[in-house]
Amino acid sequence: MLAVQVDGSDVTTIEGLAEGEELHPMQEAFRQNHGLQCGFCTPGMVMSAIDLVKDNPSISETEIREGLEGNICRCTGYHNIVKSVQAGAKAMGG
Ligand code: FES
Repeated sequence: MLAVQVDGSDVTTIEGLAEGEELHPMQEAFRQNHGLQCGFCTPGMVMSAIDLVKDNPSISETEIREGLEGNICRCTGYHNIVKSVQAGAKAMGG
């Protein structure tokens, strides 16, 4: 997406999720469930996961896998990422 396409919009990045020292519930879920290794893909995974869960708090494993399919992880094999999103969804009230 080009920056001009979000002109006038609010943009939240991974740096804007935590409240001081307290991680966002989805970030904490990734930490607790070993949802990352090198961390290269993690900001995109976390931001996508929050958006998926926001629209569908009781999201299924299949919906998580389909929703994250544009995010490539070269390290984890996705099992713990999916587990993290499920835990994050629950922590966010799903
Ligand atoms: Fe390394 Fe996903 S944790 S690319």
